[in-house]
Amino acid sequence: LFAADCQFFFGSQTIDQLPPAERPEIAFAGRSNVGKSSLINALTGRNRLARASSEPGRTKQLNFFDLGERVTLVDMPGYGFAKAAKAVKEDWQNTMFAYLRGRTTLSRVLLLFDARIELKKSDRDVMDLLDRAAVLFQIVLTKCDSLKPGKLESKRREVAAEIGKHAAAYPHIVLTSSETGMGIDLLRAEIARLAEK
Ligand code: GTP
Ligand code: MG
Repeated sequence: LFAADCQFFFGSQTIDQLPPAERPEIAFAGRSNVGKSSLINALTGRNRLARASSEPGRTKQLNFFDLGERVTLVDMPGYGFAKAAKAVKEDWQNTMFAYLRGRTTLSRVLLLFDARIELKKSDRDVMDLLDRAAVLFQIVLTKCDSLKPGKLESKRREVAAEIGKHAAAYPHIVLTSSETGMGIDLLRAEIARLAEK
């Protein structure tokens, strides 16, 4: 399902121009620079499918990728990007929230947290929004290659305690690294399962 045929097919800058709601969608959400685009590349085994960059604010629209005509992966712009102009930030935020709240074909949100960084208010706001919209979300810790195993385990516990308060959160947290491939097969299997439905 993965390396074979995953291709970009649509980019949306506003909520009025989304592609037709046809297939189940899996959205990759998280703060700017958390590693959303890199994770899509790691999952599909395609280095330059989604554009990744060390510069935060790289992804500027909702990018839709077709995976074997079964499921759609959606690379979202990051939130919490301090340097963007206020008007631009509000535009993205509104589009992102409207998409998360209203998209009928959205079957799961993968909400990415950087394993090295504390949760921020913006992360909690997104979890609250997903709870209210009853959109199931799964936490994915990214950049796990940059922590020692002991630190990583305490981080996982800390996040687990936090998401216990959120009704729409899956209890299972996926630990990943787009650099080393940690957790990638597991996520692929979960996405493949959603594609079967
Ligand atoms: P925006 O589009 O700006 O919201 O960012 P994004 O969430 O798509 O992040 P992106 O994939 O562009 O990656 C941001 C930076 O993190 C890049 O410099 C990546 O190389 C780095 N990065 C991503 N994944 C990993 C990882 O698993 N490990 C490490 N060490 N670095 C990573
Ligand atoms: Mg990106």
